[in-house]
Amino acid sequence: MIPALSQVGDRMFQLTGVRAIMKDIIETLRSGAGREFINLSAGNPVLLPEVEQLWRDCTAELLASSEYSEVVCRYGSSQGYQPLIEAVLEDFNQRYGLNYSDRNVLITGGSQALYFLAANALGGYTQSGDLKQIVLPLSPDYTGYGGMTLEPESLKAYQPHLEINEKTHRFKYHPDFSKLEINAQTGFVLFSRPSNPSGNLLSDEEVEKIAAMAAPHSVLVFVDSAYAAPYPALNYAPMTPIFGENIVHCMSLSKAGLPGERVGIALGDERIIQVLEAFLTNLCLHSSRYGQAIAARAIRSGALAELSETVIRPHYQAKFATLESALDEAMPDSVPWYLHQGEGSIFGWLWLKDLPMTDWEFYQRLKAVGVILVPGDAFFPGLREAWDHTQQCFRISLTADHGEIAIAMQRLAEVARQVYG
Ligand SMILES: Cc1ncc(COP(=O)(O)O)c(C=O)c1O
Repeated sequence: MIPALSQVGDRMFQLTGVRAIMKDIIETLRSGAGREFINLSAGNPVLLPEVEQLWRDCTAELLASSEYSEVVCRYGSSQGYQPLIEAVLEDFNQRYGLNYSDRNVLITGGSQALYFLAANALGGYTQSGDLKQIVLPLSPDYTGYGGMTLEPESLKAYQPHLEINEKTHRFKYHPDFSKLEINAQTGFVLFSRPSNPSGNLLSDEEVEKIAAMAAPHSVLVFVDSAYAAPYPALNYAPMTPIFGENIVHCMSLSKAGLPGERVGIALGDERIIQVLEAFLTNLCLHSSRYGQAIAARAIRSGALAELSETVIRPHYQAKFATLESALDEAMPDSVPWYLHQGEGSIFGWLWLKDLPMTDWEFYQRLKAVGVILVPGDAFFPGLREAWDHTQQCFRISLTADHGEIAIAMQRLAEVARQVYG
């Protein structure tokens, strides 16, 4: 029996963004096609022994304490597990000189859930029928933003300004402030910093400028800090998390080694925290408490922040250096290639300017030589105008080992040489 789906059911049933490509990748890997693939598509963080040990130690402590039954065998509050809320508050207030209270924090089941709540509480149609837009000020951005809203027409992304260095084959995105509009029709603004997929890091000034444009219209700015300092600290360029009355600082513990436990954290004005909390109660009562309890221990002891700086960041930064040198060595002069400056995240982002085929076709050519990257087209959710750049980019995961990254880039360089002729 196939049930008749509502509009919302139909929308949520669609495979959006990278999930559609992942289906092809999983089928390719499963079929094997008689060969070993170098898979540079993964978004799952690497299991780093020190980080895994931290979570094991926190779990052992929890198991041995009387807190265990409170955490696992009881319902809790929708806002989150109090010891985690307190640990986050103490750390952030002290680290960044803030004055947040426990009314300013909400724990969600992963940060994807947080964006779903925000997208549908602040974006979409108002009581009077106006459409409130979700503004993504710099496209490309996280593909998951494409599936978070029940009203897809509310998503509006802006083409960025490109800073290109022809000599070094590097480039960088900036918000194009001459085009960006934030006004009374804006529901909220959202961007990842550092960014998945490009590894771009909006500067402190750029974030402050966006927040200042939003403030007169009482528009909130959600800063997706899934890769930011202090955990997982996957910024390779210096950054300061920016806080303010209309800024909601959003965190995820997934890239700090806890993706399976689904812990997202929002820090912001208590009025928006209340709105999101009520939505979350209706959705799922509260987030799972085991992950929250071990996270509270890891944050309170300072171990999570320390391992983020000493283990997690250096691991991916070294992989990015391998990617850079492999491309610098292997790419032929005939190809106009540009790697986005590596300022953070667990990905590299390659732009093949004037690529004489689509990103999807190039992806198929790479598969034929045993390399899997993610074609870039999925990372421009909400961008309405045609832009050939969207079909000339590729996301390269830094989760493979150094040797695999180097070999994959040699094969990519050879394929590029052939297709550019
Ligand atoms: C930029 C960004 N935001 C949000 C998420 C969602 O993370 P989670 O729901 O695991 O917290 C991801 C996951 O890859 C991401 O890259």
